[in-house]
Amino acid sequence: MEFSIKSGDLAGRASPCLILGVFEKRQLPPPTQLIDTASQGHLSRILGKGDLDGEAGRTLLLHEVPALAAERVLLVSLGPQEKYDRKTYGKALAAALAHLNQTGAPEALCALPASAPPELDRYLAVRDAITTALDKAYRYERTKSEKKPPSPLQRLQLWIPDPAETSRAKQALRHGQALAHGVALAKELGNLPGNICTPTYLADQAEALAKDFPALKVTVLEEADMAKLGMGALLSVSRGSRQPAKLILMHHRGGKKGAKPLVLVGKGLTFDAGGISLKPGPDMDQMKYDMGGGASVLGTMRAALELQLPINLIGIIPASENLPDGDANKPGDIVTSLSGQTIEILNTDAEGRLILCDALTYCERFEPAAVIDIATLTGAIVVALGHVASGLFTADEGLASEILAAGDRAYDRAWRMPLWEDYQSLLDSNFADMANIGGRDGGAVTAACFLSRYTKKYPWAHLDIAGTAWVSGKEKGGTGRPVPLLVQWLLQRGGEL
Ligand code: BES
Ligand code: MN
Ligand code: ZN
Repeated sequence: MEFSIKSGDLAGRASPCLILGVFEKRQLPPPTQLIDTASQGHLSRILGKGDLDGEAGRTLLLHEVPALAAERVLLVSLGPQEKYDRKTYGKALAAALAHLNQTGAPEALCALPASAPPELDRYLAVRDAITTALDKAYRYERTKSEKKPPSPLQRLQLWIPDPAETSRAKQALRHGQALAHGVALAKELGNLPGNICTPTYLADQAEALAKDFPALKVTVLEEADMAKLGMGALLSVSRGSRQPAKLILMHHRGGKKGAKPLVLVGKGLTFDAGGISLKPGPDMDQMKYDMGGGASVLGTMRAALELQLPINLIGIIPASENLPDGDANKPGDIVTSLSGQTIEILNTDAEGRLILCDALTYCERFEPAAVIDIATLTGAIVVALGHVASGLFTADEGLASEILAAGDRAYDRAWRMPLWEDYQSLLDSNFADMANIGGRDGGAVTAACFLSRYTKKYPWAHLDIAGTAWVSGKEKGGTGRPVPLLVQWLLQRGGEL
């Protein structure tokens, strides 16, 4: 889909369809009021018949509105004005686009960004419109025999009232598109089945990204390389699988030479059966999205490359399967991590931290300005926070406030969890330096505590996205989260905002 920014005479601008918002009780936001006045009350007369009452997202298509250059007007209800917020705005946008796609109009002029809720500045109003439109256009088709026809809507023009805001709006357009492309990539990878999306496939995706964006440098460490380095924790997980593990390294050198890089480390567990500590059968299929952290790193790299962000950014994805096998980890096994610390594996299903800890130690060589790891790490974070917020763990106050703020601004929120010393003793082991589990209670916290033992040499934060990277139920599939949060953080760090 193509996007553009327009301003100026709204009534006089020709278009196959003009999209306008309407509040409950027929209150009109400024652009709608403008058109109502221009058409001598045509809109209020129709609304007076009660055709658009009710909740946000209802739509009404009008033809031949007097004194308008647009061929049609699509009215979309925004719900009660006092409850109008970012979520309702997104809902209204999505509903309008869904209706438009039924009309067959190839192009539309949308005035909703000029009727956005007060909490959104013009930049976010435009960016949300772009990301919502592209988000709704995403369809998973890769393994379906029947491909759906492309949606008729080809071009979306966004109208803003003040031409002085055009350059800001164009920046939002650029950012929104890159963000949406990153989200779509992360979704697609999460949706792909484990027999297609293997560690090798993830490595190929990184190479493919480097083809599209030559500024990206990709290196893939093979099992032999990792063995030479001493990544005993990571390799113990992949030993139970016939798919070779990969450590995918992606470098974007967009910043000053010598400037310390930001590093994103994503869990790339392409299928998690639990290993010998086998998971129960129901919903095990969903464990194909256990590479959601890795997918978000690829998606975020893609967005950063498309925007040519002026930062040095490194993406790292430790990728492996976790399966039961004669050669798999057994409860009680002890492995030596790259850091030299030994780990007693009391539950082979706590494998994410095993592959992450070696990748996190590997990060030290880059002398990072900051490292964020992103992982579908625990069921416990889903119990704690549900599917709304990702769990944020960090001892670094500055990083905490940056990440929380980025999540709020991108509407991809995180919630801070404790990482206090008091939890560390739960990882005590009689036979090794630490156990890989800390018991049922506070499971998301002890998982983060485990990782904290490998991240002492740089500022670090951990995002547990087990509840946010995926939706279950009828709409089952990847969400692309937390790409919006991460891209927002990078934009802020790169001084782009
Ligand atoms: N990949 C899972 C975590 C997970 C659970 C992700 C539900 C998404 C939805 C992880 O590898 C795992 O199995 N964690 C265990 C840890 C436990 C054995 C300490 C868990 O959460 O049950
Ligand atoms: Mn597991
Ligand atoms: Zn897992």
